[in-house]
Amino acid sequence: MSKKKSARRSTEWFGKADKDGFHHRSWMKNQGLPHHLFDGRPVIGICNTWSELTPCNAHFRVLAERVKRGVYEMGGFPLEFPVMSLGETLMRPTTMMFRNLVSMDVEESIRANPIDGVVLLVGCDKTTPALLMGAASCDLPTIAVSGGPMLNGRFRGEQIGSGTHVWKFDAMVRAGEMDVQEFMDAEACMSRSVGHCMTMGTASTMASMVESLGIGLPTNAAIPAADSRRNVLAHMAGRRIVELVEADVKMSDIITRDAFENAIRTNGAIGGSTNAVIHLLALAGRLGVELSLNDWDRLGREVPCIVNLMPSGEYLMEDFYYAGGLPVVHRELAEHGLLAKDALSVGGGTIWDHCRDAECFNRDVIHTFDAPFKPRGGIAVLHGNLAPGGAILKPSAASPELMQHRGRAVVFEDIDDYKARIDDPELDIDASCVMVLKGCGPRGYPGMPEVGNMGLPAKVLREGVSDMVRISDARMSGTAYGTVVLHTAPESAAGGPLAVVRDGDMIELDVEARRLHLDISDEELASRLASWQPDAAAQVRGYAKLYVDHVNQADVGCDLEFLVGSSGAPVPRESH
Ligand code: FES
Repeated sequence: MSKKKSARRSTEWFGKADKDGFHHRSWMKNQGLPHHLFDGRPVIGICNTWSELTPCNAHFRVLAERVKRGVYEMGGFPLEFPVMSLGETLMRPTTMMFRNLVSMDVEESIRANPIDGVVLLVGCDKTTPALLMGAASCDLPTIAVSGGPMLNGRFRGEQIGSGTHVWKFDAMVRAGEMDVQEFMDAEACMSRSVGHCMTMGTASTMASMVESLGIGLPTNAAIPAADSRRNVLAHMAGRRIVELVEADVKMSDIITRDAFENAIRTNGAIGGSTNAVIHLLALAGRLGVELSLNDWDRLGREVPCIVNLMPSGEYLMEDFYYAGGLPVVHRELAEHGLLAKDALSVGGGTIWDHCRDAECFNRDVIHTFDAPFKPRGGIAVLHGNLAPGGAILKPSAASPELMQHRGRAVVFEDIDDYKARIDDPELDIDASCVMVLKGCGPRGYPGMPEVGNMGLPAKVLREGVSDMVRISDARMSGTAYGTVVLHTAPESAAGGPLAVVRDGDMIELDVEARRLHLDISDEELASRLASWQPDAAAQVRGYAKLYVDHVNQADVGCDLEFLVGSSGAPVPRESH
């Protein structure tokens, strides 16, 4: 991994004996930093998303201290800095709207400062892609450290999973099978330690992507946040980042096309979140790696889901760690010719070096390819006149009997319309219908909220039905499940065909054929699209306006168009 060293950025700030050098060192010394720290050693930025408003990352001050220990041990100079944090459960309208903003914060914080290498502390869903994207545009030596999942939830003797059981319990309350007091009693039982969601939701998926891309240390994905070995991992990341700076191994040396292919296949094998599709497409765009939505379908098609974790299965991340964690999955992929073994890892060596000896300790949690948990992992990418740019569905979370379905559309014009009418006894809907939700794409509901798995009508739930085909331009929480078509592109607010679906239209879904079809004539579709008018309501100011004016569609990752690719000089000019 060693190569010719390029000039260290931090010496441009700290290495001068003139007025500028005085400026740069003197004010730093007010923190009690001794002079020898400015002697040209690697300066390591620790990019921290700690916030009490991001409960999943609330333990990150401890992790940052552990990273610092490792950096000091190796003769580096650690400097921690904050960036905007994204707490999935509290932020409105949705954290996804702010992913790109945080990536800008990260990029500019790194570029503007005397940093030679960076450790990204990531956890709650969007903090991972936001920090990876921002760092990618700077392309310094980088390691991501995930905060780790919470311990398993426990309620009345049963394991309960973050998010997944909220959907389940909510449906039970609406079907009259659980009372509100019981529902509220479950709150503290679900979230009983530090860490992020412990289902294979978006946070755990992205932590797995970090490890699969090689940009996190081996075992990064699954060590529980409360396990002392999470602190050890942070400590070791501090040691490794100094070595990466000294060897001048940049982020783009690690996250190559092979690394993306490994991550996509891993996502299939773990039954990972659909949100990873958007995030990895956006990250590839920052790094200049060719990656398309269709790559997700092609690469994931032959991958079975072998990890039995909620929301698709029954176990949780703690169980996954004890069963051997992600290295077992990587080994299984490698042994079936589905892992680019030579892809590098920031841990040193290749991904194969880190998984060739992996052992599984519980085959009920991590199955084999020969006896998979579900035969179909991966992400199905659908095309047709209803989704010219593509739409996606997660087969492992869907109902097999609905994978080929033709049904009458029941259309909700936006999320408010859905909320107002879904439980109306007069709503003309039954289990065979296809629920269609518009106005929830990147522009339509800025940030593209996770409402694609819209709850079923109470009257259908009361019949014991637990799934229906649902189609929208929204996203879905990684902790959710169902036969749910998501990310329909172009979105309805951009004049995609979804915008002109009407009540009573027939829709055909055929996952095997990768087809999503609105059964009206081409002429009728063209005529409806010609008379479509955009919503007059527009964002008038601030970041929301910037976002809506510039966000790309879901099929290319929802980055802001002007952020794609890296930019700027490695060392900006100074202005003193
Ligand atoms: Fe933070 Fe799920 S709410 S990871």
